[in-house]
Amino acid sequence: MIISGKDIAAQLRSDMQQQVDAMAELYGRTPNLVVIQVGDDPASSIYVRNKMRAAEFCHIRSQHILLPADITEQELCGQIDRLNNDDDVDGILVQLPLPAHINEEHVIRAIRAEKDVDGFHPTNAAHLWLHQPLVKAHVATIYNPVPDYGCTIACTPKGILSLLASTGVELDGKRAVMVGRSDIVGKPMAKLLMDRQCTVTVAHSHTRDLPAVCREADILIVAVGKPKLITCDCIKPGAIVIDVGISRLPDGSLSGDVDYEACKDIASFITPVPGGVGPMTVTMLMQNTIDCFRRRRVKS
Ligand code: GUN
Repeated sequence: MIISGKDIAAQLRSDMQQQVDAMAELYGRTPNLVVIQVGDDPASSIYVRNKMRAAEFCHIRSQHILLPADITEQELCGQIDRLNNDDDVDGILVQLPLPAHINEEHVIRAIRAEKDVDGFHPTNAAHLWLHQPLVKAHVATIYNPVPDYGCTIACTPKGILSLLASTGVELDGKRAVMVGRSDIVGKPMAKLLMDRQCTVTVAHSHTRDLPAVCREADILIVAVGKPKLITCDCIKPGAIVIDVGISRLPDGSLSGDVDYEACKDIASFITPVPGGVGPMTVTMLMQNTIDCFRRRRVKS
């Protein structure tokens, strides 16, 4: 069966629109997201445009700050600091990648953790790894896919847990294989799945016999960026397959990391590309912005 991230994202965004409208009534203001883009890389421009459109749909206020590619790291961090200190700003996102002369780690650290809607700040990442939420008390749904870690969780892994919740399959005790070990997807995903009582393997570019490792998976998540890396011999019959990759092929079409046509009849559930994980990542960014707004209201 196909897991339509596009449809689930649409459902979630309608719900968020209502949440935000209720916030406008209750607090007299709505969440405010600022997206900073450095340079005009075409792929980044598309991602940023999708984020701005989603915010508009959810009635979240948003601002796109486009900065020149030759801006210095100091100037960029100065802009971030201004937003850190602006009480009307709830979420700050710096679109990655940044030009080579800017240190991404410094920039991520410059964002105040409470406004880091990506969940990339070391304080948020550390919270995820060190905090054990009351998972037993949490019922995962598409609307509420992760227990309360008291911090912002990276958007893509959170979106994937929402997609997994949509299948109704119990995760406890399942074998999960995460292909890819990035800070943005692979690592946080592995921790979240461990907390859901999965037995997790993280595979990567040095993994020997990747197909054999993948065939162990009841839940296979792939975030590598190599079109059609995962072929039919990598799928255990009945597995759930989540494809995070999105690449443009020489013929102009888009492809995931999974050979979708070859794998779709072996898997019990599979995400398409496009229309799978991508819309969920943007949707979770909206949820994180709403959550940052709420946490800041509760604190102040
Ligand atoms: N570039 C690609 N994906 C992302 C993301 O999730 N957040 C940010 N800030 N930049 C990205």
